Amino acid sequence: MAGIELGNVSKVYQGSVTALKPTTLTIPEGGLTVLVGPSGCGKSTLLRIIAGLEEPSSGSVTIAGRDVTKVEPADRDIAMVFQNYALYPHMSVYDNMAYGLKNRGTSGADIALRVNEAARMLGIEALLQRKPRALSGGQRQRVAMGRAIVRRPKAFLFDEPLSNLDAKLRGEMRVEIRTLQQRLGVTSVYVTHDQLEAMTMADHLVVMRDGVIVQQGPPGRVYDEPDNVFVAGFLGAPPINLLAGSVGEDGRLHLDCGPQVDLPAFPKLQPGRKVTLGVRAEAISIAAPAANQQATIELIEELGPNRLLHMRFGTAKIICVAPREPALRPGETIPIQLDTAALKLFDPETGSACR
Ligand SMILES: Nc1ncnc2c1ncn2[C@@H]1O[C@H](COP(=O)(O)OP(=O)(O)O)[C@@H](O)[C@H]1O
Ligand SMILES: [Mg+2]
Repeated sequence: MAGIELGNVSKVYQGSVTALKPTTLTIPEGGLTVLVGPSGCGKSTLLRIIAGLEEPSSGSVTIAGRDVTKVEPADRDIAMVFQNYALYPHMSVYDNMAYGLKNRGTSGADIALRVNEAARMLGIEALLQRKPRALSGGQRQRVAMGRAIVRRPKAFLFDEPLSNLDAKLRGEMRVEIRTLQQRLGVTSVYVTHDQLEAMTMADHLVVMRDGVIVQQGPPGRVYDEPDNVFVAGFLGAPPINLLAGSVGEDGRLHLDCGPQVDLPAFPKLQPGRKVTLGVRAEAISIAAPAANQQATIELIEELGPNRLLHMRFGTAKIICVAPREPALRPGETIPIQLDTAALKLFDPETGSACR
């Protein structure tokens, strides 16, 4: 069995709004692929094309080796989990989970087996006779998942399923969905605009912008090696520090904000070349007093285990993640060090990484 293949799929709504430019994508079998990007970048459109809820303007969709481009959604053997759960309010949890199977003519005994098994997996056995209104948001989310699981589909499709939940519950459900997906090993596509959700959940991360896939790969690699300044800025909180500058005759980077920093050995850049420097907050450390960089603390945000230092670096502002010690105060000027090996360089014109 293969995963999901999209071949040159595009979508133009009402003949004018291009939501998705021709896109080719392989979604690996059995893993969790996350489509992430800002609102309006075409994530839902792509997911709905996989589901068959939206007809592509061009291209083909293959699920588990079968070309389903012309196949009705109900016959694609996929299950979709939405943000608004779409549970039937007048039906019990059991009936909500059984509904799709009944419609397909599954026997009562088989339905009971599957619903009970899914309920056990999701820890909602005690809720089977309740109506959705008597459930919390997290419980409703589990029922919606249960309804998808009982179908034993070839693929799960999730469209921002956690957006309605508060931050704590979102964190919990993230882990639950991930655990469940790993246990079931069903090819899954998960859409979110939340980079943290995307980073933490994905086996395979697909970053989109303006109807185009801009980068894909394992989340750690996309984070460490962004192909362009957009991906660098989209992933990570606090966001990566971006500073404009140019390469000096001395081979160092002369930042427009004042300071000069050492460049990594590669890529080799010509003197005079303009670049955008990307420095992640964790690539800046409070250094020994002899360090040649200095920054002035403007604000300290306590996060518990560590803290964010908002600092003035020359005339620019930067953010760094620092341990709780030593004690620091706004107004203090401190020695800092930029981890040269972790510096990222981008072409200011194209936004592409200099490699
Ligand atoms: N049914 C529709 N008719 C016209 N334009 C649409 C329709 N659905 C989405 N769009 C437009 O297509 C673009 C992509 O939308 P969507 O796929 O929903 O983005 P996302 O899920 O990433 O927020 C947006 O510009 C949106 O306004
Ligand atoms: Mg959407």
